[in-house]
Amino acid sequence: MEVLLAGLRAAGEPTRLRLLALCAHGELSVTELTQILSQSQPRVSRHLKLLVEAGLLTRFREGSLVFYRISESGDSAHLARTLVELLPDDDTELTRDLGRLDQIRHKRAEIAENYFQENAGQWNKIRALHVPEADVEQRLLQLVGTGSIGSFLDIGTGTGRVLELFAAQVERGIGLDLSSEMLAIARTQLERDEFRHLQVRKGDMYNMPIDNESIDVATLHLVLHYSLEPALVITEAARTLTTGGRLFIVDFDAHQEERLRAEHKHQRLGFTDREINQCMVQAGLVPGPVESLMGDPLTVKFWQGVRA
Ligand SMILES: C[S@@+](CC[C@H](N)C(=O)[O-])C[C@H]1O[C@@H](n2cnc3c(N)ncnc32)[C@H](O)[C@@H]1O
Repeated sequence: MEVLLAGLRAAGEPTRLRLLALCAHGELSVTELTQILSQSQPRVSRHLKLLVEAGLLTRFREGSLVFYRISESGDSAHLARTLVELLPDDDTELTRDLGRLDQIRHKRAEIAENYFQENAGQWNKIRALHVPEADVEQRLLQLVGTGSIGSFLDIGTGTGRVLELFAAQVERGIGLDLSSEMLAIARTQLERDEFRHLQVRKGDMYNMPIDNESIDVATLHLVLHYSLEPALVITEAARTLTTGGRLFIVDFDAHQEERLRAEHKHQRLGFTDREINQCMVQAGLVPGPVESLMGDPLTVKFWQGVRA
């Protein structure tokens, strides 16, 4: 009863209802919300604080930016969604807000697209060295299996492609990446309604903002070669897994393509099965069968481990 009353009190004000409606459509920064509402930042921040305190919105920091989204869990999450559903579709002010939100999304998408275009050439060069991406994705899907997954973590998510791949079978998905530019692309890609249960967050694979034993399936898809200390990354991933939770690593077999170091900042020229399996054992994982897709010159490997 107390929670309900607190939620209703917090939402019972025109600007706060507008904020709730906007944050139900995606993750927005204070600056973006201020632009949409045409109100001063301190005022918008005050309203946001009340909505967060009542549990209707969730706040999270990404570098220098603070984002808000509608709560997905907790006692007030249901109330937040219900209130948004009750809002009239034909309200002039809300319609105008959503129009401005669209403009902001366009601008974000443009910035993300520019960054992607600038780097896409480099990525395409690497792709040409190994097997087609669709084959890699297909094999990963097969290995993980079609069963439903409670919580899913994609480490070094980049554009969020692996999150998208598993969207249909995942209850809750989180993608972590260190690069704000990549996260901006991922966020744009995941803005569709069917991806509401997927989120991306800024985070370092060596020290992830993820609770112990909270993840059922974790993936490291073409990320580990950016690490000079893969054992630390694997230990950190294993920390987040529930008992019986699974880690899948997709990366290159040990190779001699030195230019990937110089031209593409790869820290490691692939890995041997022995090295990855040893890291897994040290991290408390039981290594499973290893699979590969032969490419020339790069072979893609699929390593998996289960938390004992
Ligand atoms: C080649 S991309 C792969 C992206 C994605 N996994 C995919 O396969 O589409 C490698 C990603 O790892 C991220 N990355 C590199 N170092 C990281 C770190 N220490 N913590 C988190 N992400 C990192 C990069 O920002 C980049 O987005």
